[in-house]
Amino acid sequence: MTAHLTELRKEIMRRAQGALSLDIAFIGIANGLFAALNDEGPASVERLAASTGMDSAYVRRWCDAAYAFELIDETAPDEFQLSPLGRAFLADEPGTLMPFAVQTVLSAHMADRAAELMPGGERPGERVLGERPTILPWFGPMLEHQFGPLLDKEILDKVPAFETVNKHGGLAVDLGCGNGWYLRALARRCPQIHGIGLDDFDENIQQATRLAAQEGLEKRLHFAVGDIHHFHIEEPADLIAMNRSLHHVWNEKENVFRVLQEHLAPGGVAVIWEPNWPASRSELRNPALRGMAFQNLSEHVQGNHFLRPEEVAEQFQNVGLEPAIYLIAEGRDAVITGTKAA
Ligand SMILES: C[S@@+](CC[C@H](N)C(=O)[O-])C[C@H]1O[C@@H](n2cnc3c(N)ncnc32)[C@H](O)[C@@H]1O
Repeated sequence: MTAHLTELRKEIMRRAQGALSLDIAFIGIANGLFAALNDEGPASVERLAASTGMDSAYVRRWCDAAYAFELIDETAPDEFQLSPLGRAFLADEPGTLMPFAVQTVLSAHMADRAAELMPGGERPGERVLGERPTILPWFGPMLEHQFGPLLDKEILDKVPAFETVNKHGGLAVDLGCGNGWYLRALARRCPQIHGIGLDDFDENIQQATRLAAQEGLEKRLHFAVGDIHHFHIEEPADLIAMNRSLHHVWNEKENVFRVLQEHLAPGGVAVIWEPNWPASRSELRNPALRGMAFQNLSEHVQGNHFLRPEEVAEQFQNVGLEPAIYLIAEGRDAVITGTKAA
């Protein structure tokens, strides 16, 4: 083997081990093993299996693997506690590494589906995401932890529309709201706003309703199953948000932008947040953008593709809404607003 090939092999093995450690972390997250070790402190395999309702033979094998990858440490023979690395995957901790584990297992699923579907070109749509019942409940929390801090730290300050709506106690509508994290964050930051979240996936609405109630926001936020293409709300909206949902309905963009225009109150704003698909392919080599390139393949399986902010701005213009583009997350994402004349 040439020296170059030996180096490449080492590098690929390092990456493969990284993926394995995230696979093992995912099992710990999905089956509550990390959470149980955190709640109970050091536990034997039997106790961990009993407290999580898992099969003890499986838990033993998982403990071996999690121990090998330093996600848990052994405190006594056959007794384990969370390591600092394992603790970093606890789903509720600020800055949790949980999204990386969920994304890795989801990516493996989507890669397999892309490989299978590529010969025939079939694009089965969003149901592919729902094919893994272990991943599905983690989709909302993954997005919330990945993007919630960006909303709080960057977008709410950069985009003036939120404060304007807050001032007169306006209505914010979130189309394709997922688990409702965006409206919850908005309600925390803007105490005058009330909100309606719509999503066509019932499990999302149930999660969103439960989480809003947990935060005592049930009087201000209402979530319902609804379709972006035709929904009815009693009052005109002061703000309509679409976070990572526009690319899901881009095939019917003329209708979507008409719907946005019609549901906005005079002076109201549509706020669209999407990945910022780069203008030139060479930008995809940027390590910060590589993930987006993979995700766009996975979007293709779902019948979607990522957008350039200018394309979104053009659609706003077509329906008479005044567009503005804000680049965020060092240009990885874009928020495009469209304002209706007062
Ligand atoms: C990538 S997720 C984003 C979820 C959420 N906005 C967030 O930021 O976490 C896209 C969401 O759009 C929803 N969606 C897609 N097409 C829809 C439609 N026609 N009507 C309502 N919701 C839709 C999906 O169910 C999914 O929850």
